[in-house]
Amino acid sequence: MPQELEINRDFEQFKHNIKELLNFNTFQYKDTYLGRRFASRLRALHLDTYHDYWQILKNDAKEQEKLLQEVTINVTEFFRDAPVWDVLFNDVVPTLIRERQGKIRIWSAGSSDGKEAYSIAMILANILGENELFNRVEIIGTDIDRDCLNHATVGNYLSHPGLIQTDMKKQLNFIKTPEKYFDIIGDTFQVKHAIKTPVSFQYHDLISGPKKYHFDLIFCRNVVIYFTRQLQEVLYKDFYNALTPGGFFVMGKTETLVGESRDLFIPYNLNERIFKKR
Ligand SMILES: C[S@@+](CC[C@H](N)C(=O)[O-])C[C@H]1O[C@@H](n2cnc3c(N)ncnc32)[C@H](O)[C@@H]1O
Repeated sequence: MPQELEINRDFEQFKHNIKELLNFNTFQYKDTYLGRRFASRLRALHLDTYHDYWQILKNDAKEQEKLLQEVTINVTEFFRDAPVWDVLFNDVVPTLIRERQGKIRIWSAGSSDGKEAYSIAMILANILGENELFNRVEIIGTDIDRDCLNHATVGNYLSHPGLIQTDMKKQLNFIKTPEKYFDIIGDTFQVKHAIKTPVSFQYHDLISGPKKYHFDLIFCRNVVIYFTRQLQEVLYKDFYNALTPGGFFVMGKTETLVGESRDLFIPYNLNERIFKKR
């Protein structure tokens, strides 16, 4: 049998094994993406075949954890893609506050370590004031990575000066006065109680988890890029159903609506990938 065919068959079998072992639905992710993530673990262990890797993986809980970490990329930032947050601050959030009588419900789907959820909490605190924040707002962050969820719940972040990508001070330029929202001790930024109070985090798998409803604003950014196009379409429909009438949906900078989901939303700010429920 040609070697490439052999590898393809191994790959399919390996995906199947992972799904069974880790309850992680490999068949909903793009093969090119999974192939790159798996290869990274094989390289780290100096292995050449999925078969050899499987022999180690099936009995090694630590390696199973490492593989899960590898396939769920957690990169995130406070106020990631600043221009989106400008539109949220100056337009979307004031509109919601004006139009919604009861609590404004917000969902950060694929929330990683919570920076997206806290970013929107800080914007709301800035506009409403900290006292009103808890009365008027409920923010839920969901993810399948339990370490990230724990980190998010604690809300304690380390700045890494010198690493532009993660340098907290740079990320927090957006709010000018980070000390209003964080207790800052050296390199450690602890989100203040008032900002944390309306925010909660929970385990939720976008692929197989129960459907969610009644949100006025949904973020799903830099999560579905790793999923197949068919699944993306299903999830965009789920988000449509999860929104209240006139609710807003914010996608990642490089993401686009696909298939029938394109008819469900009205572009609100196409450049910043903000859509409104039709
Ligand atoms: C790159 S981060 C994006 C974080 C944040 N939304 C942002 O844009 O900065 C992607 C997150 O999606 C999560 N994720 C991957 N597959 C998921 C799934 N099936 N259900 C829920 N979350 C998932 C990962 O664990 C990871 O934390």
